[in-house]
Amino acid sequence: MPRKIIIDTDPGVDDAMAIFFALKSPELDVIGLTTIFGNVHTDLATVNALRLLEIAGRPEIPVAKGADDPMVRDYDGPVPYVHGDDGQGNLHLPPPAGRAVDQTAAEFIVEQVMAAPGEVTLVPVGPLTNIGLALRLEPRIAQNVREVVLMGGAAFCPGNASPAAEANIRNDPEAADLVFGAPWQVTMVGLDVTHNTILGPDHIDAYAALDNPIARHITRILPHYRKFFEDWYPIQGIYVHDSSAVAYVLDPALFKVERYPVRVDCTSGISRGKTWPGTGRRLLPDWEGRPAANICVEVDAHRLVELELERIRA
Ligand code: BDR
Ligand code: CA
Repeated sequence: MPRKIIIDTDPGVDDAMAIFFALKSPELDVIGLTTIFGNVHTDLATVNALRLLEIAGRPEIPVAKGADDPMVRDYDGPVPYVHGDDGQGNLHLPPPAGRAVDQTAAEFIVEQVMAAPGEVTLVPVGPLTNIGLALRLEPRIAQNVREVVLMGGAAFCPGNASPAAEANIRNDPEAADLVFGAPWQVTMVGLDVTHNTILGPDHIDAYAALDNPIARHITRILPHYRKFFEDWYPIQGIYVHDSSAVAYVLDPALFKVERYPVRVDCTSGISRGKTWPGTGRRLLPDWEGRPAANICVEVDAHRLVELELERIRA
């Protein structure tokens, strides 16, 4: 039986790749996409999610629109210099034929999780607002999901949205702190591993040589995103963020994890959004009573990028 997953996403170039990677993996049954602000506003994230499913020939998969703003503060706004004005590398695609379901993302998540206890894996690859709202709506989802595998955070390395914080977590630290504190198994696939996983020029060329609609879309959206990385970081190609969370669901053996409870800095200071593992011989009270998260600390990056290419090729 393929494993049921819901991808909570802010597409986003790397979100698009992660969605395609999951759709092309027979071990996974993508039962829905839920959308969130982050790379773009939630309305555009929703349009993009619908478009991506149509490109993949899977328009029957439901899309539920999520929150427009973080749980406590206002949304900081999109990042067109990373993902393009349209979140898809400035392709400015025609509108999708389909539309989102009438439920909110949080309602959709609660309904799906409670309808299939122990079966649904949540894969958030954007800010964690919808997951926080779903927990508030129905706290029992924590006992009823299979697990949560999220892209976000930076435990033992610098951030990317600030020196301390990774972008998804920094976009809604309060929601992230709720998610890390709930009684479920969270796996954090953060910058500790994604900044060690590079999709380089050879692999990008290999995508360009493929002749299917998914690979063609990837090839069209990558140049704008790649330019951002090559301008800002000492790499050729792109860091593999969101697809790394999908890779963990497919094959956790690609990663080495360490287990710590996690707190998120929700103050207004310079470290807002920093994910702090509770290290040290004795846990301080702020971490006490929290479940241990799996924090990915090492990755077999070569096998990971090969696995994704193999799936997109198939
Ligand atoms: C995360 O931020 C977004 O730009 C990406 O889609 C990814 O989810 C990386 O920090
Ligand atoms: Ca994302």
